[in-house]
Amino acid sequence: MGLAPSWSFRAPVRLAVGRGVRRGLADAWRQQWIVVSSRRGRDQIERDPWLRAAVMGRVTRWVDDVRANPQRDWLRTTAERLRPGWNESCAFLAVGGGSAIDAAKGLAAILAVPPRVSLDMLIEDPSLLSSSETVSPVVAVATTAGSGSEVTPFATVWDAMTGTKASLSHPRLWPQSAFVDADLMDGLPHDVTLATGFDALNQAAESTWSRRASPASLELAGRALEVGLPAFEALAVAPGVGGSRAMPIHAVATPGPLDPRAALADASSLAGLAIAQTRTALCHAISYPITARFGVPHGVACAFTMAAVARHVAPADDGRLARLAVRLGLVDAGALAVRFDELLRTTGASALTRQKIGSLDALLRLRPAMATPGRADNVLRQADTNDLGRILTEAWMGGPV
Ligand SMILES: [Fe+2]
Repeated sequence: MGLAPSWSFRAPVRLAVGRGVRRGLADAWRQQWIVVSSRRGRDQIERDPWLRAAVMGRVTRWVDDVRANPQRDWLRTTAERLRPGWNESCAFLAVGGGSAIDAAKGLAAILAVPPRVSLDMLIEDPSLLSSSETVSPVVAVATTAGSGSEVTPFATVWDAMTGTKASLSHPRLWPQSAFVDADLMDGLPHDVTLATGFDALNQAAESTWSRRASPASLELAGRALEVGLPAFEALAVAPGVGGSRAMPIHAVATPGPLDPRAALADASSLAGLAIAQTRTALCHAISYPITARFGVPHGVACAFTMAAVARHVAPADDGRLARLAVRLGLVDAGALAVRFDELLRTTGASALTRQKIGSLDALLRLRPAMATPGRADNVLRQADTNDLGRILTEAWMGGPV
């Protein structure tokens, strides 16, 4: 299949990316904030002079207990806590990674509809948001280079009780403004850099093999991998575990980035803009039950099958994977999968995933939960149950079987 003959593009967010751009936050919203963050995000606001100046004195409410993978119950109870005296002229200020930004979008959605409309109803039918008079704006300050949630209208809602995840998606959930400032990412712990960086790279790859890809999304995704891969390698590959490559995969040597944190921040926003157009695909569909059941961090769970899915889709390549490979200085699309295999090995991401899941059988048993329509089938080449088994087995073994 080739690209569709017509395409459209939508990204109604004022995005600023680069070191120091958080200074613009003071001008993003002149009224009161409801701040949504993790404890780390709150610490960053209190310690950083620019954030402090933009936020302090204008906070009506703090929601500073966001944890990884915002839960359905937490969203419900937090929204109920905010509802008395709710003032729609407030904006949500999300400071954190994808979880904080998704949480702010979820709260904005719940509070935009009457109390009789439950979160479950909103997830079932997001168009209920269309009739809301006001959806409070969300301003996002990203403190990780990962999900790209600051430039998408999607919010993920998790449910640990049932081991499932759902998506809230509506055009009114686009953040109004977003600031992606690598100054806030310096000193990020290695495990967080690894998980979030893998999410960004995987989203760029997923957007590339999406059936909804367009010339614009391919350009964004290609650029995300071009700047993001060497930056991620510089930050996340464990010292001394470098690549003894089994086969020559590089056509030309690619120089390392001067500022890997800033380059990865660029990559995460570019990848976010790409999936905002195409949505994510098979790796994400596979990842959700792995995260929900075994606690594997989202980005690692997505990346786990990235090489195997690249090999699966390669026979259906309409030229986009081959062009991406050349752009990355690789000899062909097969080399792309080899590079992903290497990355999963040298960062320890494969080993971590295997350790958390325990056995290949336990992984294969999750197959029915992985076949989610709209995502699992959003790939150049469809995967049936046998294909899925092969992809999971390859990912488990760390290479072709
Ligand atoms: Fe993701």
